[in-house]
Amino acid sequence: MATSFSMVAHHSRRTEGEDKIFATNNAALSAAKTVGASRVVNASIGALLNEDGSLSVLPTVIELLRTLPAEEYAAYAPIAGLPSFLEAAKKAVFRNHIPEGFTEAVATPGGSGAIRHAIWNYSNIGDAILTSDWYWGPYKTVAEEHGRTIVTYTLFDEKDTFNIASFKEKTISLLEKQDSLVILLNAPAHNPTGYSLSMDEWKEVVAFLKSQAANPEKRIILFSDIAYIDFAGNDDNSRSFMELFGGLPQNILTIVAFSMSKGYTLYGMRCGAMIGISSNPDVVKEFKSANQFSNRGVWSNGTRPAMTVLAKIFDDPGLLKKVEDERQLLQDMLTERADAFIQEAEKANLKICPYKAGFFITIPCKNPDLVAAELQKEYIFAVPLGKGIRFAVCSVPKDHCAKVPQIIARVIQQVDTEA
Ligand SMILES: Cc1ncc(COP(=O)(O)O)c(C=O)c1O
Repeated sequence: MATSFSMVAHHSRRTEGEDKIFATNNAALSAAKTVGASRVVNASIGALLNEDGSLSVLPTVIELLRTLPAEEYAAYAPIAGLPSFLEAAKKAVFRNHIPEGFTEAVATPGGSGAIRHAIWNYSNIGDAILTSDWYWGPYKTVAEEHGRTIVTYTLFDEKDTFNIASFKEKTISLLEKQDSLVILLNAPAHNPTGYSLSMDEWKEVVAFLKSQAANPEKRIILFSDIAYIDFAGNDDNSRSFMELFGGLPQNILTIVAFSMSKGYTLYGMRCGAMIGISSNPDVVKEFKSANQFSNRGVWSNGTRPAMTVLAKIFDDPGLLKKVEDERQLLQDMLTERADAFIQEAEKANLKICPYKAGFFITIPCKNPDLVAAELQKEYIFAVPLGKGIRFAVCSVPKDHCAKVPQIIARVIQQVDTEA
């Protein structure tokens, strides 16, 4: 409903618009009521669901949470996070690929909290934040909430690999205009495309940033968003790029965002951490104090029970193994769905973004809103993005994943001919 009378401050006046993910999910739920859930393909939800539509959980994690003593729920955590949690978070992030240099960690409410602090504490008001043209919508929300903007480079080149030329061009042009640059890079298992940079691509990114850091006036903050890393294949291989974050010039700070939402199926517990890596100990000392201050200034302390659960898991190799085994079953389920989708997409000649792993497959198309609307008529609910539609393989049973590519291909062709 449009309002002519407004009470909010100038900076909070925004155009109203329904969140497309929630709108698509609501449409799917209401269709399920009319035609029955089995006829509806709800590919809007960004959470891993079982084949029967229930939320996938890691039983060991939930059991650990349930058996915590009352004080673990009732007590505050320290503002920066429980020290045992922060140590566990570093282990969970790096595993065998600890970058050389100094690291500090601060607890945040999920990866979202880390994004917020990185933007606020490492860019200046009015600055542009750099990310790829396919990106998770809340990057823009968080940037705008804090008086920043998002500028994008083109993620893929004509060979469907990382478009390093575009990345370089946009980085250079922003560093000409501003002294600090925060770069949000979501990989492996990127949302929404499922792309993971190869080791060579990572090397090129880091080498290029090093060249830009030759100007000592510039500050480069590489924000590595690893929200889906635990669903990106082998734990060890998926983390090898992190060694590249060691031994960098002091004016490059790497921040890795750790989240317990997906990897530990604790979406609602709002627990994660930001880990700063630098070759200069003062930079990580400052990282700790600035982000701890922001914790106090924005949400105070984080969710203690979730922190304790992670600390327990990484304190006991047997528990860690159980969690990993349970997660492997979920990973296998996800991979089977993605494989089924990709196989059928090939048969149907349906072009998709280069998917390596993760919760989503994205189909580029010219008229995403029209395509999504037409698909809804066939009871397929996928999220329209700026340049395509996002299909959440994480929340759709395998037989549906195999069925839909043909329909999507037909609908895109139909919409494109009519438009
Ligand atoms: C790309 C990306 N980054 C970060 C997050 C943060 O999630 P959370 O704040 O729950 O850790 C998400 C969640 O959907 C995401 O898709």
